[in-house]
Amino acid sequence: MKILVFEKEEHLDAYVGETICDFIRQHDQATIGFATGSTPLGVYQYFIDSYQNKKVSFQNVQAFNLDEYVGLKPEHPRSFALAMKNELFSHIDILPENIHALNGSKEDMDEECQRYETLIEQNPIDIQILGIGMDGHIAYNEPGSPLDGACHVVDLHQESIESSLDYGFDHIEEVPTQGVTQGIGTIMKAKQLIMMAKGQKKADLVKRMIYGEVTSDFPSSIIQRHPNVIVCLDRSAASQLKEEDYEKR
Ligand code: F6R
Repeated sequence: MKILVFEKEEHLDAYVGETICDFIRQHDQATIGFATGSTPLGVYQYFIDSYQNKKVSFQNVQAFNLDEYVGLKPEHPRSFALAMKNELFSHIDILPENIHALNGSKEDMDEECQRYETLIEQNPIDIQILGIGMDGHIAYNEPGSPLDGACHVVDLHQESIESSLDYGFDHIEEVPTQGVTQGIGTIMKAKQLIMMAKGQKKADLVKRMIYGEVTSDFPSSIIQRHPNVIVCLDRSAASQLKEEDYEKR
């Protein structure tokens, strides 16, 4: 596992952004997994700037979102699908038919999960962007999720429901109580993982993710078992790590 700790947030965002832009430029087809949430927003701005400055095109990119709320249509103002569209996809030249996501409003969610799992099997993800949730989740794999799980519906834990208030919900009662997510097994099939974390509130979580036991009680710990993972942190998020374990940037 490569751990990089950046002095400045914009350098972290530029590193992740440029790593992915480079991959896209060097391949005829690239399949990228996107996370919602606040952590990758600077990376998405980097993609938009790079596209506007004609340094990269996303026409040959297939995009896969990680997760969604159950019960929200893709066009719902608080859906992750709309957040990704507003924060990134509507500002770059990605083809609409190449944007893939779980639809949390389907009547038969088992069928929807199977559809998405099969689609990912057919289009293996080259680089998956990840963040860590306040209960240690990755995507919406809450503590207790099977380490080899496929796409599935999940009851959201209280920490995840509370964190959703950062995503524009006015009242906690408005936050859906279930999510639908790529499973940990699905995520582990990606060829490369880029895990990002920023801020002091993530410091203990990052410590447990990197040094702790690999356990379904703390789903993000699974990244220790992935053969190709880069962890990109700011100084606060890295503050509980031993200096000899990371590279300073
Ligand atoms: C979102 C997702 C979540 C977030 C995590 C961190 O698609 O998969 O696991 O990455 O909850 O969220 P932020 O970045 O808002 O702290």
